[in-house]
Amino acid sequence: MLRHLTRKLRAGGPVTVAEYMREALTNPGQLIGIWYISEWMAMGKPTTFQLVELGPGRGTLTEDILRVFKQLASVLSTCDVSVHLVEVSPKLSEIQAVMLTGGKVQPSPEDESAYMKGISKTGIPIFWYRDIQDVPPGYSFYLAHEFFDALPIHKFQRTEKGWREVLVDIDPEVPDQLRFVLSPSRTPASQNFIQPEETRDHVEVCPEAGVIVQRLASRIEKDGGAALVADYGHDGTKTDTFRGFRNHKLHDVLSAPGTADLTADVDFSYLRKMAQGKTATLGPIKQREFLKNMGIDLRLQVLLQNSSDTATREQLLHSYDMLMNPKMMGDCFNFFALLPHHRLVRPDKKDKPESKSPLPPVAGFNELLLK
Ligand SMILES: C[S@@+](CC[C@H](N)C(=O)[O-])C[C@H]1O[C@@H](n2cnc3c(N)ncnc32)[C@H](O)[C@@H]1O
Repeated sequence: MLRHLTRKLRAGGPVTVAEYMREALTNPGQLIGIWYISEWMAMGKPTTFQLVELGPGRGTLTEDILRVFKQLASVLSTCDVSVHLVEVSPKLSEIQAVMLTGGKVQPSPEDESAYMKGISKTGIPIFWYRDIQDVPPGYSFYLAHEFFDALPIHKFQRTEKGWREVLVDIDPEVPDQLRFVLSPSRTPASQNFIQPEETRDHVEVCPEAGVIVQRLASRIEKDGGAALVADYGHDGTKTDTFRGFRNHKLHDVLSAPGTADLTADVDFSYLRKMAQGKTATLGPIKQREFLKNMGIDLRLQVLLQNSSDTATREQLLHSYDMLMNPKMMGDCFNFFALLPHHRLVRPDKKDKPESKSPLPPVAGFNELLLK
């Protein structure tokens, strides 16, 4: 663990205490890696798959997943795996390259869809793209972890005159201060993005997330695979979730623009609508339920048994608490999956349409939250 952490710190610079805690315990990345292998097996062990990650950040999760793939190399021995990272930030793609390949990457020729390529330390080819549409078609497992919550949203308010869009304007009373105002009339967005059956009074919509989910769903429908989306979010129930964070503290979204990370919770009900007709969806399911279903308790026990000093054991319990406690990430962080429709068909349904045999389980989503 220490060797892994020092490599990470050398590559990407210091990390927050929260990241350190997450790293030291239960990298959810390892359980996520197991989820992909479990789905690959359930889908009949295709001879090749692409792991496609949207917004890999520092590359930590990818590294964890590749470590699991290496540990389970004998299981995957019949399969050609490649990794495809969709990353717009040049700085982060450099950090990912150092983390995953030790810096041994080369820019791709102009006529190739990837802008950079390399080989992982475990020998798997890795490619970088700016857009999901540049990733070659093929059987793929997609990952979007803390990706959608940073994409831009539109905000709408129900008024007596109908839906109005929330806009950002200059505050005429206070110099250099911004304020929210309501559009005096309907805007194209307020006409297009509000569902007729909407019951909330305040709604946030992330059209970019909708477009990306439509693309993922089309690709999964055509070429097979699955997508796992993990993020802060809700199932179409929350209203005003637009927040700013600076140095891990809440920060007014309108003051000192550009100095804080701006996020809004992911509306999974919207993502489900965008996938409709193309793929089935499962979830959202709370992180504490997903990780429990994935066997986090057993993993914690093994780690506790294998650690001899009190400090490490305390650290493990503390990190477990952060991932699982409903007041920390346990309840507000969610998992959601896109799967081909045939993946959720009862095995004997073709012969006996009235069959009541159980649906094939999908790891992590034991309750089969089919919506
Ligand atoms: C909050 S980080 C998530 C990091 C990582 N997935 C994790 O969970 O630790 C968001 C990532 O998405 C990237 N990103 C943001 N907008 C993007 C876009 N439109 N296309 C591709 N990547 C994007 C950022 O550069 C960053 O790598």
